[in-house]
Amino acid sequence: MDDLAALRLQLEWGADEALEDTPVDRMLARAPSIVTPHRVSEPVPARAAAPFVIAKPQSARSQDVAQAATTLDDLREAMRNFNGCALSTTATQMVFADGNPDSGLMLIGEAPGAEEDRIGKPFVGPSGVFLDRMLASVGLDRDKFLITNLVPWRPPGNRNPTESEIQICLPFLLRHIALVKPKRLVLIGGIAAQAVLGSKTGITRLRGTWAEVAIPGLEKPIPALCMLHPAYLLRNIGAKKDAWKDIVALRRHLDSDSQ
Ligand code: URA
Repeated sequence: MDDLAALRLQLEWGADEALEDTPVDRMLARAPSIVTPHRVSEPVPARAAAPFVIAKPQSARSQDVAQAATTLDDLREAMRNFNGCALSTTATQMVFADGNPDSGLMLIGEAPGAEEDRIGKPFVGPSGVFLDRMLASVGLDRDKFLITNLVPWRPPGNRNPTESEIQICLPFLLRHIALVKPKRLVLIGGIAAQAVLGSKTGITRLRGTWAEVAIPGLEKPIPALCMLHPAYLLRNIGAKKDAWKDIVALRRHLDSDSQ
C-alpha cells in the first residue's frame, strides 16, 4: 500500500486529527537505508495524549462523581474535571447542554461532532441545524427544550462511542436527567436510545415508540420517545417521513398537557 492510500485509509477509519505534540517521522522506520544510527536511537517523544489506549470501564467512579453533584452547575464542573474517560484527552472541550432546563422536555443525542466540539454546544453542526428546523416546524425552539448528549466529549473522527465509553458516561447523563427532572425525554438515534433504555433493539424498531424510563433518584418513570438521528435522516431521505411522524407524535404528547 503506498503512503497516500495508507493516509486515505486512516481518514476513512476516522483518524482525521494529529494527536501528538511532536511529529514522528515514520519514514525513518520504513526506509532503513536513510536512517542514521543517531536518529534510530533517539528516544520516542513522550505522548501528550494516549490516542489508542482503550478506556477501561470506570462507571463505578463516574457514578460516584455524578452522584455527588447536587446542582447542574456542580455536575458540569465535576464532568469538566473528570479524567476517567480517554475521550476527554482528545476532545477540544466538554459539551454539556443547551436550551432550557426548566422546559420539561429533554432531548438526548449521541455525542458531539466537530462543530459541537469547537463551539461547546450540542447539535450546532449540520445535523443540529436540521434537527432545529424539524422541531421549529412544530413550534419547538431551544427555549422550549433542553438538549444534551449521552457522551459529552467528541469521539475522534466522529466514530461511535465504544461500549466502555458509554458505560463511563451514562451515570453523568442519568444524574443530569435526575437534576433536570423533565416531564418527557426524546432519545435521538440508536446509541442514545439503547443506552438509556438498556435495550438491544435497533432504532428502526424503537423509533416512534414511547417507553417509561425509571431514572435513579426520581420517584416516577419518565415517558421517553425514540426517534431517528438527524445525521441518518440527512443520508436517507426516505426516512424523513418517519421522522416527521415522530415529531408530530411529540407535539401531540406535549399538547395533551393542556387538554
Ligand atoms: N450528533 C449528536 O448526536 N450530538 C450532537 O451534539 C451533534 C451531532
